Amino acid sequence: MLKRAIIVLAAVVCTTTGGVAEEARVAFPESYATTFENYLSLDRTQDPDQIIRLFANGVALEAGAAGKELPDGSVVVGEVYSARKDSDGKVITSSLGRRIRDKMLAIAVMEKRKGWGDAYPEDLRNGDWDFAIFSPDGKRLEKKDLNTCRACHAPLKTTQHLYSLQHITK
Ligand code: HEC
Repeated sequence: MLKRAIIVLAAVVCTTTGGVAEEARVAFPESYATTFENYLSLDRTQDPDQIIRLFANGVALEAGAAGKELPDGSVVVGEVYSARKDSDGKVITSSLGRRIRDKMLAIAVMEKRKGWGDAYPEDLRNGDWDFAIFSPDGKRLEKKDLNTCRACHAPLKTTQHLYSLQHITK
């Protein structure tokens, strides 16, 4: 009994000191598929065989349309898909020259809340945005190093750390 209590305690200590608790603050946006707008879908510029479908919530879209800074509570979602391939493993393109969606691989999320950026050094700071990534069924992918997300988006200071800011509009 005592042994079990010690194991449980050790597990709690590990999760609170390992940085996971801090990173878990961006929750999975449960109803994004029905309540957010799919404002853009792209063949991924950074990846030769993926597709991304981008969604934003109402407050983000409204501010974007008005040319204003996106407010606290803004959430942007990227559904990442593999692109369909032929039997030789080559990515197929449609008659429009675009990749075709195959399986959903992950759901990437950015959310903005007051003070969320405070703890980060300059090269990882994205204003008050923070990042999370989930499996297609909404489970947090704990092993992903979110500092890679932060480092790639951080330099985008003139577009609020978003690649697709100009498309976030109504
Ligand atoms: C190497 C650079 C790079 C890394 C690393 C990266 N992103 Fe991005 N991200 C992009 C680019 C480029 C786009 C524009 C869409 C595209 O081409 O995929 C984007 C778009 C997004 C968007 C849509 C909003 C926007 O900025 O347009 C979200 C949400 C997002 N990324 C989340 C994440 C998360 C979460 C991670 C880490 C798990 C991550 N990104 C890691 C480059 C990166």
